[in-house]
Amino acid sequence: MQITKEMKMADAIHSNYLLLPVINRLEIQLGFQDKSIEKVCVEQNVDVEFFLTIINAFLGSDNKLSKQLQSHSVKEVVSYLLKTHSYYLERIIPEIENRINLLIQYSQLSKEEFLLVKNFFEEYEKELYAHIALEEEHVYPYILEIADSYHKKSLSQALENKINIYPITSYEKEHSDIEAKLFDLKNILIKYLPAPKDSHIRNRVLTELYTLEQDLSDHARIENMVLVPKITEMEAALLALKK
Ligand SMILES: [Fe+2]
Ligand SMILES: [Fe+2]
Repeated sequence: MQITKEMKMADAIHSNYLLLPVINRLEIQLGFQDKSIEKVCVEQNVDVEFFLTIINAFLGSDNKLSKQLQSHSVKEVVSYLLKTHSYYLERIIPEIENRINLLIQYSQLSKEEFLLVKNFFEEYEKELYAHIALEEEHVYPYILEIADSYHKKSLSQALENKINIYPITSYEKEHSDIEAKLFDLKNILIKYLPAPKDSHIRNRVLTELYTLEQDLSDHARIENMVLVPKITEMEAALLALKK
């Protein structure tokens, strides 16, 4: 379903509750009564077109939506992605960690099983943190530098070297390892741990992992399908300035 600005904001949430953290990241808070998406965005000072593009990109997976996102500024997209990182680091991962600790506490696991879950989660956490740090310390600053130079139509020697050594496409494949680890973690809980005494606790952990997976895949899709092509075009245009 395509969400439009005439729809009620509440109906967008009813159509898929996983949009809740997405709309919060876009600076929209709950309590919007029966107002339309356009009205809520105007009142809360949010760019309605950007809002719709992000929401629809989350709900669908076609290229048309990525093209719509391409029309927004790199800065706007990066700022949204940074908020998504904070949401993972400050809210989701600590929450999953608490649930896993509860699961361990109430599952009477053998020492090996206990270590398997604990180590696997910690490894996943480490990898996700490292990935986010790489993006925030290197990739996003590089992206913003490229966009800035592109608009100024000037290319410094230092940036030219960076484009030649680490073009944006060199970072694209980074995501697959993180996705694979999360899949393995789910499988440990689904297939390999003994039947739980309290399945509710394990189901809650799994639900959180599935939700994180969907959110992360939307996030990675914006990085791979929107930022990478956009920056690749800008890199080429910048290099062409020197020819
Ligand atoms: Fe990211
Ligand atoms: Fe990423």
